[in-house]
Amino acid sequence: MSFKVQPNSPARPNRCQLFGPGSRPQIFEKMAASAADVVNLDLEDSVSPADKPQARLNIIEGLNDIDWGDKTVSVRINGLDTEFWYRDVIELLEKSGDRIDQIMIPKVGNAGDIYAVDALVSAVEMAKGRKKPINFEVIIETAAGLAHVEEIAAASPRLQAMSLGAADYAASMGMQTTGIGGTQDNYYMLDNTGAHLVGDPWHAPIVAIVAACRTHGLLPVDGPFGDFSDDAGFEAQARRSATLGMVGKWAIHPKQVALANTVFTPSEAQLTEAQDILDTMAEATKTGQGAAVYKGRLIDLASIRQAQVIVGQAQLVKG
Ligand code: COA
Ligand code: MG
Repeated sequence: MSFKVQPNSPARPNRCQLFGPGSRPQIFEKMAASAADVVNLDLEDSVSPADKPQARLNIIEGLNDIDWGDKTVSVRINGLDTEFWYRDVIELLEKSGDRIDQIMIPKVGNAGDIYAVDALVSAVEMAKGRKKPINFEVIIETAAGLAHVEEIAAASPRLQAMSLGAADYAASMGMQTTGIGGTQDNYYMLDNTGAHLVGDPWHAPIVAIVAACRTHGLLPVDGPFGDFSDDAGFEAQARRSATLGMVGKWAIHPKQVALANTVFTPSEAQLTEAQDILDTMAEATKTGQGAAVYKGRLIDLASIRQAQVIVGQAQLVKG
């Protein structure tokens, strides 16, 4: 192993991030009452250009007036290629109190994008004497974002999380699909009977994001799944992401929150197995063994680290 120890990621649950348009303040209370660990109030692509100024005011009012409980509260600002983003930052940080935890920066392309927002946020924090530093989360959803994913992950100590944005990613990459995440029928191989074996076109960016996040101590998060009438499809996508190391998934409709929470909370069976592995290895190391047999298969010191991931996830959820 490298002598540089892998940093821990922020110790808070992030199983589900529930989004809502800033132009629809009627749902803010419902978002606050939901079971999502994170809420994302949106100023970007769910808000039409003419509504941006009013959406900012709605969000500032919601941040100041609504009881968000112990949720992580995040606001998605507009991208750095727009005329809106600087006002998003300035108005939010000048007019809202300390309940805002995080700013989500969409469509980041390189570390310089984070630097630019960091400089502006730092200036407003100084000017206003804000005590609680604002954290950042970013969306990897462009070809440039994926190409520079590691320098982005390393760009600022404010960074806490990184999501894959499937729709913009697909558009930027020139992918031939209008689906927002999930199965893409044209992405298949043929087996030797001619049957279609469906592949996962999101696998590559997910692995790249997880690696960048784990290297730099961030939370890797799977983004939106657009077809909110397809629970089984959402669950399958979420299970693949969880298996690859992501910690949570967005919900773009309230019915997706429980699905995400279930997938990204270790089940009783997973937890029992992890604990059994830890117990078996504790016995083995007492007698000087680094390897042991559990249910007919090898376990060794690496199995301890694997089991600790699952136990750690369960502890985060319990708080
Ligand atoms: N958060 C909390 N509650 C929500 C919600 C959300 N994002 N979206 C809808 N609801 C509420 C509705 O107000 C309704 O409440 P009610 O039963 O008290 O009347 C209930 O959930 C059912 O809503 P439904 O009628 O099924 O959905 P809709 O047609 O009102 O809205 C969407 C559907 C997709 C437009 C809406 O969910 C939405 O805007 N999602 C977020 C989009 C977004 O933020 N995108 C950016 C990230 S990709
Ligand atoms: Mg997007």
